[in-house]
Amino acid sequence: MLDLFPLVRPFVHALDPESAHNATIKALKLGLTGQLGRNTDDPVLETTVFGLSFKNPVGLAAGFDKNAEVIVPAHKMGFGFAEAGTVTPRPQEGNARPRLFRLTKDRAVINRFGFNNKGLEYFEARLRALPANRGIFGANVGANKDSEDRTADYVTGIKRLYGLSDYFTVNISSPNTPGLRALQSKAALEDLVGQVLEARQEKMAAGAKFIPVLIKIAPDLLPADISDIADVARGSGIDGLIVSNTTICRPDTLLSDKRAEAGGLSGAPLMAQSTEVLAAVYKATGGAVPLVGAGGIASGADAYAKIRAGASLVQLYSALVYDGPGLVSTIKRDLAALLKADGFSSVRDAVGAGTSRQSS
Ligand code: FNR
Repeated sequence: MLDLFPLVRPFVHALDPESAHNATIKALKLGLTGQLGRNTDDPVLETTVFGLSFKNPVGLAAGFDKNAEVIVPAHKMGFGFAEAGTVTPRPQEGNARPRLFRLTKDRAVINRFGFNNKGLEYFEARLRALPANRGIFGANVGANKDSEDRTADYVTGIKRLYGLSDYFTVNISSPNTPGLRALQSKAALEDLVGQVLEARQEKMAAGAKFIPVLIKIAPDLLPADISDIADVARGSGIDGLIVSNTTICRPDTLLSDKRAEAGGLSGAPLMAQSTEVLAAVYKATGGAVPLVGAGGIASGADAYAKIRAGASLVQLYSALVYDGPGLVSTIKRDLAALLKADGFSSVRDAVGAGTSRQSS
C-alpha cells in the first residue's frame, strides 16, 4: 500500500502540534484516510491476554483519542487494539496552550495537556454509537483536577462505562495533574484498587460480564515503588499493568530547544528507561501479571525488545507523529520476522524471553 505520509508530513509539521493533532483526528473521523494499514496479520502475531484475543499485540496508546472518536479508524491503521481517553467525569479544558511540543531532533514529544477532554457523558455516547465489529479497545479513566475525591472519580468512570469497553485502564501516572502520581504509593494504591474492583464486583453481581482492569504506571519509579506496586498487583486481582506513561526526566542527550518545556516526555528518549522499568516490574511480579509495554516504540525491534522484557502487548503514540500511520504495518511485519527468526511460534512464547524469567 502506498504510504503518503512522507509527502504530507511537511505540511502537518508546519502547523503547531496541537492543531496538527486536531486536524488528524478530524480527518480520521471523516474517514478521509480510508484503510491505512493491512487488515490481515501474520498468525504469529495473534495472542490472547486477559481473556481477550488480539489479532496483533500492537496498540494505540492513550492520549491520541481522548474522546473516543477514532476507535474504528485506529483499527484501520492496523492496530490490534486502541485505548481511548484519558476521560475524566466532568469535561475539562486542560492547561493553557501551547501544551504540546515536538522535539524533532530527538524524535520525542513533550505534553502538558492536563487531561483536556469532553467528559464521561460525551465519551459514553461515543462508545454506545460504535458498531459491533469495532475491534478491541480500552477506556482509560482519570480524575478531574479539582476533584475532592480522586479515587471516587475513577470509580465513577468505571461504573458509567462498564460493559461498553473491552478493558479499563486506571491512569494514575500522568505528570500533568498535580498530585496524581501520589496514587502510586502503596496505601493509596491499595485503597484505589480495592474500590475499583469492588465497583466491578457490584456490576458482576448484577449480571454484568467480567471486564479486565489495568493500572497505568509512570517510568519514574524507584525500586521500592516498583516492589510495592508489584505486591498490590499480585495480591489484588488487578488484571494487568501498563508500563509506562511519559517521564518527567530530561536525559542529557536531548538536543531540541524545546527540551526544557514542562510536562511529560515521550518518544525515542523514553524507550530505554521505560523498558528497564518494564523488566523490573516483570521480575517483581514473577511474570504473574500481564504487562503492556509502552514508551518509545518506533520499530519492530523496539516492540520485540518490550516483549522480551516482559510485555504481553505493546502500545505507541509519539512515533506516529514522525512516521505516520504506515509505521504500524512496518512494526508488525518486522516483529513477525524477528519472532520467527528466533524460533518463536507465538508472541506469548517470547514474553520475558530476554529476562531471567525469575518467578517468585
Ligand atoms: C500521552 N499519554 C497519555 N497517557 C494516558 O494514559 N492518558 C492520556 O491522556 C495521555 N495523553 C498523552 C498525550 C500525548 C500528546 C502523548 C504524547 C502521550 C501517554 C501515552 O499513552 C504513552 O504512555 C507514552 O506517550 C509513551 O509512549 P510513546 O508515546 O513513547 O510511544
